[in-house]
Amino acid sequence: MKSILEIPTVALADAGDAIEIIDQTLLPGRIELIRLRTAQEIWEAIYRLQVRGAPAIGVTAGYGMYILAGQIEAETTADFLNKLRQQADYLNSSRPTAVNLSWALGRMMKQAEACAAAGADIAGLREAMRREAEAIREEDTDICRRIGEHGLTLIHDGDGILTHCNAGQLATSRYGTATAPMYLAHERGYHIHVYCDETRPLLQGARLTSFEVSSAGIETTLLCDNMASALMQSGRIQAVFVGCDRVAANGDAANKIGTSGVAILAKHYGIPFYVCAPSSTIDPQTPTGADIVIEQRDASEVTELWYSARMAPEGIDVYNPAFDVTDHSLITGIVTENGVMRPPYRF
Ligand code: MRU
Repeated sequence: MKSILEIPTVALADAGDAIEIIDQTLLPGRIELIRLRTAQEIWEAIYRLQVRGAPAIGVTAGYGMYILAGQIEAETTADFLNKLRQQADYLNSSRPTAVNLSWALGRMMKQAEACAAAGADIAGLREAMRREAEAIREEDTDICRRIGEHGLTLIHDGDGILTHCNAGQLATSRYGTATAPMYLAHERGYHIHVYCDETRPLLQGARLTSFEVSSAGIETTLLCDNMASALMQSGRIQAVFVGCDRVAANGDAANKIGTSGVAILAKHYGIPFYVCAPSSTIDPQTPTGADIVIEQRDASEVTELWYSARMAPEGIDVYNPAFDVTDHSLITGIVTENGVMRPPYRF
């Protein structure tokens, strides 16, 4: 049986006509690969979080555009580009917060448009799109490794590290963002202990992060979200590393709901709080965190999804934002593939 870390999070199926993903809604109980072929299947896989995490959503969008390009029937390249744009708009509506989705869709569109402008035919456009999608995936692996190298400079032998949600390999092509420094630290013989917030309501920390980090042989402890303060107070946490879905021009960072609370606690206890993200997650077009669209999700995720029986009254009003914004003043450093940035942040 392969370890979860040996299976690609997102890949192009051998025949090149489908995206193959690990269905993350079934983890950790079942490791099952599923194939996505149609625009609706790709849209739903992103919306339902079968594939999730900002960089992995970007990689899926890249492959998705290539696969859908193969299904478009068009007489002219102009018609082809119009139909491709419609598919990009459709996929872009699946989740609003992670900028990597619109970034990857835009990059694929630009590549197709540039080839058309250079005189390529439709077959040529499709081939160029395949190369671009592969490049997005390969760059992601390289970027995560570099985030790991820079992040490693912030870790010391013996550290306890807290993370929230899953910014691990399951959220990227490899290594993860927040987890990359942890994997490198472990590879280089540091003795570290990783603490995973369970991350209500969808339990990415419990189901995904504690699963993949412990699979790597790293000492791992799972805690409920409301235990983070007590854990920090106990002196066992020396640093917090989290991922990110969008960094605004002033350094405010949107990440999984609950992240801003962890940052406030870290500040209170004097613990450094680091955001790890590829530079494609930085969105200079969005001035501050207040301008980031926060996805609101279905009430059933809070009232029943992970319970064997519904545990909240029928019809109860539910507040279920999927992300929150951490104020730039709470962020000790932003780790990208280019290094560790410190405040003041200006993008
Ligand atoms: O709703 P999710 O599971 O897609 O949320 C994921 C996160 O918030 C991650 O921390 C973020 O996308 C960064 S992944 C490297």
